[in-house]
Amino acid sequence: MRMILVGPPGAGKGTQAARLVTKHQLTHISTGDMFREAVQNKTDLGQKAEEYMKRGDLVPDALVIEMVMERLGRDDCATGFMLDGFPRTVVQADALEAAMKQAGMSIDVVVLIEVPDDLIVDRIVDRRMDPDTGEIYHLKFHPAPAEIADRLVHRKDDTEEACRARLEKYHGETSPLIPFYDGRGILKRVDGVGSPDEVSARIAQQIGS
Ligand code: AP5
Ligand code: MG
Repeated sequence: MRMILVGPPGAGKGTQAARLVTKHQLTHISTGDMFREAVQNKTDLGQKAEEYMKRGDLVPDALVIEMVMERLGRDDCATGFMLDGFPRTVVQADALEAAMKQAGMSIDVVVLIEVPDDLIVDRIVDRRMDPDTGEIYHLKFHPAPAEIADRLVHRKDDTEEACRARLEKYHGETSPLIPFYDGRGILKRVDGVGSPDEVSARIAQQIGS
């Protein structure tokens, strides 16, 4: 299966992606995670991306597209993948569609996780990540075990200010993907309000598994 997860910042894309890739044995491609790793390793790409990310802006399309195309060409994507956070603009969606067409493939399903803006800030500001396992926690909604509390990290773009900027980008630049994929008949809408288990069940129902 070739699948895309779309949704505003903090919608639960990463949380649901972790479950879906295990269940369906897909390669998880999170452009946000790839950029954070590049920033941490101080690569050329990381240095270019860092300022955009900190402000909550999108990284320029050309940089993102080059990175994703290289990643999709690797062997572990041959049998299926889950794109989390890509595409995020119509330019990126066009580039992906052209690359898929050239490879004789197509995207099977695009899952849109919908969460209203007024719930997003809370989810983002209290998110914590475990750098050792990649597990996503939340101070209230999904607290980490006490023994790992000291190693948890708070993302640099998880401030209220950057979150508002990311929401604005989502509504301006990413939401046009909704009619884009709806027009191709592959968009599935999922209500992202409720527990992660409830959201997982809705996704399973929508993708028929
Ligand atoms: P990225 O890392 O993709 O960030 P994002 O899209 O803003 O999404 P998040 O990772 O913040 O949220 P999520 O939906 O994964 O939610 P999560 O599961 O963590 O991108 C970061 C930056 O990189 C961008 O701003 C941009 O600069 C750059 N970038 C990346 N891709 C790009 C692209 N294609 N083009 C250009 N630039 C790009 O959940 C959030 C919190 O809520 C967690 O604490 C979680 O525990 C909790 N939670 C999850 N589900 C629930 C639930 N059902 N109920 C209650 N709490 C929940
Ligand atoms: Mg994420």
